[in-house]
Amino acid sequence: MTDPLPTQRNFYGRIRGKTLRASQKDYLAEDLGPLTLRGVTREDNPSRSPLDLGFAKGPLWLEVGFGGGEHLVHMAAANPGVTLIGAEPFVNGIAMLLGKIRGAGVANLWLHPGDVRDLFDVLPDGCLSKVFLNYPDPWPKARHHRRRFVTPEYLLPLALKMAPGAEFRVATDIPDYVRQTLEEVPPAGFDLVHQAGEGGAWDDWLSTRYEQKALREGRAPHYLTFRRCDQKG
Ligand SMILES: C[S@@+](CC[C@H](N)C(=O)[O-])C[C@H]1O[C@@H](n2cnc3c(N)ncnc32)[C@H](O)[C@@H]1O
Repeated sequence: MTDPLPTQRNFYGRIRGKTLRASQKDYLAEDLGPLTLRGVTREDNPSRSPLDLGFAKGPLWLEVGFGGGEHLVHMAAANPGVTLIGAEPFVNGIAMLLGKIRGAGVANLWLHPGDVRDLFDVLPDGCLSKVFLNYPDPWPKARHHRRRFVTPEYLLPLALKMAPGAEFRVATDIPDYVRQTLEEVPPAGFDLVHQAGEGGAWDDWLSTRYEQKALREGRAPHYLTFRRCDQKG
């Protein structure tokens, strides 16, 4: 019998940054628990049973690696009929997001404070109708390119969780990331719908902290839109 649990995964990013402010510690203590999706971690759901989507009202959207959460909260506020999930393991980013949720008063947003692959284990197949990947970690060294999100390890489980026709948006400031995205996303079961450079962001785009940093440092944004193919790839 095959082991239903995926083997232990490597996560190479940062979990903690600089010391949290007292207010951020309060947000984590008070708000993180109620907003965290149950049944996602291995501790909470060792058999990796599919999540009950009873919490979701309307279409379900996912943001991978939301950073400080500005785009995620903006999307939640602009789309009250949609339920959004954000996945992010970086505690300082999660604390920033929680502060923004309080400020915006949105109630259609849920979190997985960890690796998005935990969600891929337990989300029902075909449940996501839009997915955002904004400024994923670039892993610039060639020997680290296999750590990028746009590799089959991430893309195949993602494709399985997306409904036919669902939209997958990728924003990046790294030309070689654009190259790898264009090479690796279509074979995972997606069609390229649109690509644009600086000034060509989606109409409902909200610029993120990493995009602002990229612009300050002279790097140009790229915006890529894919659609999940009808037949399972
Ligand atoms: C370069 S930052 C960009 C943050 C934000 N999207 C923005 O545009 O400002 C990439 C983020 O992806 C997160 N990340 C990396 N791997 C992840 C994973 N496997 N699951 C969820 N988030 C991940 C990192 O912790 C980091 O916060």
